[in-house]
Amino acid sequence: MKSSKRKKVLGVNIDHVATLRQARRGTEPSVRQAALEAVRGGADGITIHLREDRRHIQDRDLEEIRRVLKVPLNLEMAFVPEMTAIALRARPEKICIVPERRRELTTEGGLDVLRKEKALKRALPRFVKAGIEVSLFIAPVPEQVRAAARTGAQAIEIHTGAYAHAQGRQRAYELSRIKTAARLAAALGLKVNAGHGLNYQNVLPLVRIPELEEFNIGHSIVSCAIFTGLKQAVRRMKKIIAV
Ligand code: PXP
Repeated sequence: MKSSKRKKVLGVNIDHVATLRQARRGTEPSVRQAALEAVRGGADGITIHLREDRRHIQDRDLEEIRRVLKVPLNLEMAFVPEMTAIALRARPEKICIVPERRRELTTEGGLDVLRKEKALKRALPRFVKAGIEVSLFIAPVPEQVRAAARTGAQAIEIHTGAYAHAQGRQRAYELSRIKTAARLAAALGLKVNAGHGLNYQNVLPLVRIPELEEFNIGHSIVSCAIFTGLKQAVRRMKKIIAV
């Protein structure tokens, strides 16, 4: 298949739904229901990040979503023994290995594959043997792309945060770095995904990059969902109160 004909795939990250639920440590909004609703909207896959500190997604979310989901589940995880064991037990269709720092608001940087190359090479065959597609979340840096290819990972996810936060010329430069990294990764036989900070505007130039296949987007979709649903939600409560 020619690269320009590659179908673009949308993975919806629903971590923020869990963040809202954890604000009250209760049961609503339901993360499982959010996953199913995203699929009804056309999501090709669902992404969740089970963080070591469990600040949003919980272990039971992974189990429940795994049980009901009919599209591929992408589990974002730190490269630590606890998460490796969980992933091998739950067997999501895909995992994306991300760096994790406890005090960060969200995943702030890419994985330093060059530094972790040996350990990744040793660990990744276990996932691949279990039928799990492995992706490494990296900055669009050629040395990191080459290192990712050497680890045996099937995919990379290009960290688009720097592009998303840049303006003007800097944004054009960041876009060119993504294009170069995507082209190199595809030439090395890697599947190329992208994510972080993408919204309804800044995703447009990326959609035109032929090598990019999958977009993992959370914050802007969940933010948009508030405004597509808030009016109806208020109307429903108003009706009950007005009795
Ligand atoms: N991809 C990865 C690897 C991430 O860590 C995140 C944030 O959890 C996303 C994609 C989604 O980013 P955003 O919520 O900014 O769309």
